[in-house]
Amino acid sequence: MEINFVTGKGGVGKSAVAAALALRRARAGFRTILVELGDQSYFRDYLDLKEVQYRPQAIKIGGVQFDLAQWSGQECLKDYALHILKIESLYRLFFENAVSRALVNVAPALPELSILGKITSGPPRNVGPKLPYDVIVVDAYASGHFMALLNAPAGLAAAVKFGPMGEQVRSIDSVLHDQEICHFYVVTLPEELPVVEGLELAHNINKRLQIKPKLLLNRCLFFEEELLTELEQENSAADHLPSFSKYLLELNLRQRLMQDRLLKSGYSTETLPWVLSFDTKNVLEKLSQELKI
Ligand SMILES: Nc1ncnc2c1ncn2[C@@H]1O[C@H](COP(=O)(O)OP(=O)(O)O)[C@@H](O)[C@H]1O
Ligand SMILES: [Mg+2]
Repeated sequence: MEINFVTGKGGVGKSAVAAALALRRARAGFRTILVELGDQSYFRDYLDLKEVQYRPQAIKIGGVQFDLAQWSGQECLKDYALHILKIESLYRLFFENAVSRALVNVAPALPELSILGKITSGPPRNVGPKLPYDVIVVDAYASGHFMALLNAPAGLAAAVKFGPMGEQVRSIDSVLHDQEICHFYVVTLPEELPVVEGLELAHNINKRLQIKPKLLLNRCLFFEEELLTELEQENSAADHLPSFSKYLLELNLRQRLMQDRLLKSGYSTETLPWVLSFDTKNVLEKLSQELKI
């Protein structure tokens, strides 16, 4: 079992990278599921689907099939509770009333814990309904919200020391700490702010779990030496004008600076190209080929 969490600042390409990674694993023959967190599906529009639900559905990109699902805290909790209570009417008695619903919504970290419980419910924990996958790729929350997700078990473990609930929480936390199972990817862009925020997030994950995330510098447009020389010549010929070639040269330089900063950070770093296509499936195909993970 392999669980991959893809996180980063908003808009840096988390969803695209997560889908590309799922595609890559599925192509290699692994039973793979791509999981979106939260209440609204991004992939519904992105992949032009009718709906994305809690129950996984098979999708196909370039002839390769994998499952896609969207998991919210409420649904993960219901799934688990139903598995234990077995009977829907019993579930409703306990959970589908105003009091317990309010409780579930305000109980700190319970939605986050339910999501992590579901994600980690396969081997080695083997709890709840079967999760028949070799690989889970989680298109996870952005920076701060992601840390709240990771911190949920530790907070609850401190509060619930004993009993089955405490045991569950601790077993979830131990899977999160297992580097053989859990892998973390922080996506960033070759720009100042996303890089600073990406590095901070990577430090926080490392501090929390003692696992070093991998940094993915997304949407880079590096030029060949030949083109750079050409641009430089063009630029010096027109240095009285704010030329496009000058812009491209600066872009290239800035990307290199950001790449250097990531490489020096001590985290393993990978660069992904800016795929110049409006066809989203093309973007995913190309990124899945470029990924080295
Ligand atoms: N390497 C890339 N090349 C081209 N387009 C990309 C790349 N990475 C992301 N995109 C596009 O940028 C947009 C934002 O990416 P998205 O994955 O939605 O970011 P996030 O999930 O972090 O908010 C999407 O339209 C996506 O297709
Ligand atoms: Mg997204």
